Amino acid sequence: MAGNVDALYVFLVVLSTLMSMAIFTMIVVFAVRFRRRRGVEAEQIEGSTPLEVTWSVVPLGIFMAIFLWGAAIYFQERTPPQGATDVYVVAKQWMWKLQHQEGAREINELHIPVGENVRMIMTSQDVIHSFYVPAFRIKQDVLPGRYTTAWFHATKPGTYHLFCAEYCGTQHSGMIGQVVVMEPAQYQAWLSGGSASGSLAETGQALFQQLGCSTCHRSDTQGRGPNLAGVFGKPVQLDDGRTVMADENYVRESILSPAAKIVVGFKPIMPTFQGMVSEEQLNALVAYVKSLSQPPAGAAAAKPAGAQPQK
Ligand code: CUA
Repeated sequence: MAGNVDALYVFLVVLSTLMSMAIFTMIVVFAVRFRRRRGVEAEQIEGSTPLEVTWSVVPLGIFMAIFLWGAAIYFQERTPPQGATDVYVVAKQWMWKLQHQEGAREINELHIPVGENVRMIMTSQDVIHSFYVPAFRIKQDVLPGRYTTAWFHATKPGTYHLFCAEYCGTQHSGMIGQVVVMEPAQYQAWLSGGSASGSLAETGQALFQQLGCSTCHRSDTQGRGPNLAGVFGKPVQLDDGRTVMADENYVRESILSPAAKIVVGFKPIMPTFQGMVSEEQLNALVAYVKSLSQPPAGAAAAKPAGAQPQK
């Protein structure tokens, strides 16, 4: 992405420079050429349609080209590719907490493999922060109360700066970290050296039992709540006629504000879990619900990234 972003940026700088130089040159040339001289009178010129059309249409064309170019890059940057590896990010005053699907947790450091699409699902447990990795040309605000996402594809191993780019209090300037991009083999070694607490989805599954979710959300059709297998990533029919996509924000909302969206055929009887689960626990529950929709159906736990079927 960096090459595309830079090309547009360089184009804007070059265009601005050329225009500024042209304008300043004309100011100087006209000032000298049409300076006040004895016996020379100014001649008034009234309107010129070809001239006015030219100076309206040419800039419009240039601006439209810049707009379309920028929009194309924007949509590319906003649309995570299918099958990207998810990393959960929780921001707080003043640190970054990162959780891998495989279970590894990090603070102010994110290890990822080179050449893979990585999607970050981010939220804040207090104020607004912003996840900024200049080398990847990504910057995304991280908000309390919902998920925002950003994705990148690191092309070179190395260590890259991570900044918080939204003023978030006294230690804002200290809310920095690094993204460590590793060769896949090195990354696997790093992963296996981490915690033995199981994958994020497994943590979520345990919570799902502990909090009693499983008593209503049963894996058959007899539960008082919807069976959650295969729900994630599909449209959900609501009792008010709407259809919504079951994405991370939908699952999150259904846990914290269950009455906001009721699945057709069910009653609004689920209690809220607001204040009972931390952001990390929410992420684990989301990862678990997500894992219920991943093939193969038998293995609920998330597979390591390398084990996913690839073309
Ligand atoms: Cu977090 Cu600034």
